[in-house]
Order: sequence, then structure tokens, then C-alpha cells
Amino acid sequence: MGLLTGKKGIVFGIANERSYAYFIAKSLVEQGAEVGFTYLPMGKMEHRVAKAVQTLGVNDPWLVACDANDDASLDSVFSQWDKDHGTLDFVVHSIAFADKDYLKPDTFHTTPREVYRNAVDTSAYTLLAMAQRALPIMQKTDANKTEPGGSMVNLSYYGGEKVTPGYNVMGIAKACLEHTTRYLAYELGRPDRNVRVNCISAGPFKTLAGAGVGGMDKMIAYQEYAASMKRCNTGEEVGDTAAYLLSDLSSGVTGETIHVDCGFSVVGVPPHKDD
Ligand SMILES: NC(=O)c1ccc[n+]([C@@H]2O[C@H](COP(=O)([O-])OP(=O)(O)OC[C@H]3O[C@@H](n4cnc5c(N)ncnc54)[C@H](O)[C@@H]3O)[C@@H](O)[C@H]2O)c1
Repeated sequence: MGLLTGKKGIVFGIANERSYAYFIAKSLVEQGAEVGFTYLPMGKMEHRVAKAVQTLGVNDPWLVACDANDDASLDSVFSQWDKDHGTLDFVVHSIAFADKDYLKPDTFHTTPREVYRNAVDTSAYTLLAMAQRALPIMQKTDANKTEPGGSMVNLSYYGGEKVTPGYNVMGIAKACLEHTTRYLAYELGRPDRNVRVNCISAGPFKTLAGAGVGGMDKMIAYQEYAASMKRCNTGEEVGDTAAYLLSDLSSGVTGETIHVDCGFSVVGVPPHKDD
């Protein structure tokens, strides 16, 4: 029996086997959850996501298209889930986007309105948009789910707390995402709703989205040098933290941003390189 046996939900954000969402899904499946997936309807995404999901050992996966910027697309994902499953225990939001032309050092001050709007819309507002649609399904019960409620997890980075050159407008979006987490946690946490919302602030990781951030190699090298544990976190460590946050083990935790960054964010002034 796993931590998530009997629970079911949707993971948004797998692009391939390097995605943080992939590692989260892996851990959820290992812990006994029934997991459904979405893919961004663009290029070869459907094929890539299906291929990645196959390696998780999920037979005949629930896999539907979702452009989270489009309300109708989100409506369709959640109503399809409701029709097919009837109840919902968790949602993983692991999506982000910003125009990479503005993810280079010394370009933040040149960010156009539309680039800023799109980054915040795709990377932060979509959490709220998902919560609106998840809430009524999370309130439903059946023979297997006797208590209404659920748990949501999303992914942030330290650049949402402190200036990280090159992270730029994505840092603004992450600050917005982390605070959206808190406001949602407050309103959805009351006993008649019983939905928890938490954020994982993960360290730098080479993924498709990560590759768009200028200076990713330097961010990784700096983390290895400055983090308390002198290394970068693994995808599995992020996946396992998500499994904890979506399980009943974390029943008293909501509105938190938990750092899975090997103690990078707790260090103010790292040792001088000659120390
Ligand atoms: N890679 C890192 O260094 C790092 C560090 C901390 C946090 N994060 C966060 O982790 C999350 C996952 O990113 P990743 O690094 O695994 O990269 P990734 O490229 O594997 O995943 C990003 C996902 O966002 C999806 N996406 C983008 N726009 C979308 C839209 N409009 N609708 C639906 N899906 C959309 C993409 O299809 C992709 O699956 C993001 O929130 C990212 O900011 C990444």
C-alpha cells in the first residue's frame, strides 16, 4: 500500500522524460496513485508525452490536450475528467512560459507589456484557473472517497524571491505564483472545502523550459558551489516531495513554499571561492 493508494488526479506539464512533472508523476504512480496527464497541443507534444508516460508503466493512460491559457481548453479537461472519473483528489501544476528573448541578463528592464502579461498569465494565473475548475470535482464523494477535498501542488524557483540575473520576468511570474498559492490556500482551506495548495521551489534543472533561461549552466554551477549540500537536487527528490504534499501525511500543511534545493535558499553569503 502506497502513500497515495486510492487517490487520483491530473498532472499538467510533462513535455518529456526530463520534465519535473515526469518525476512527480513517477513518484505518484510508485505511491499507488491513479494519474491522468495532459499535453500542450503543439508540434509533436502528444507523441512525446505519450512516450514518456509509457515509461511510467501506465497502461492506456488518460491523456488529453490542454492549452492552459485557453479557458475553453481547461473547461474541457476538467469536464472530461469529471465524466470519466467522478472524483478528483489532486492536481499538479508544473507549467511555465516566458519569451526567452527576455530571459537573458540585463534584459528585464526592456520587457514589453505583452511579454510580461503572457509570462504571468501562463505561469501563475493558470494555477487559479485550474483551482476554479478542480474545486467542484474535489467536493464530490463516492464509495471510495468519503471526505470532500483535495490537494494541489505547483513548481517555483528561488528567482521568485530574490533577483537572479537572467530569470527576469519569470521571477515576477514565480513571485505571483507563490502568492497565488497562499491566497488560494486561505480560501480553499476552510473545512467545507478542505483543499490544500502548496508550492515546491525546486533548484535549477536542465529541462526544455530550463534551457530557455539564459545562464542555466551558471545557475547550476553556482548552486553546486553555494548550496548547503553542495549539489543540485534530483528530479526524484522533487517528485517525492510532491507525493508527500499530495498525501495525507501533509494534512496540516497548506500555503507553503517548500524548497527542494539542497539548502541553497537558506544561505545568505556563501563562502568566498578561496575559503
Ligand atoms: N527547470 C528548472 O530549472 C526549474 C526550476 C524550478 C522550477 N521549475 C518549474 O518547473 C515547472 C516545470 O518546468 P520544467 O523545468 O519541468 O520544464 P518543461 O519544459 O519540461 O515543462 C514545462 C511545461 O509547461 C508546459 N506549458 C507551457 N505553456 C503551457 C500552456 N499554455 N498550457 C499547458 N502547458 C504549458 C509545457 O508544455 C511543458 O510541459 C515550471 O513551472 C518551471 O518554471 C523549473
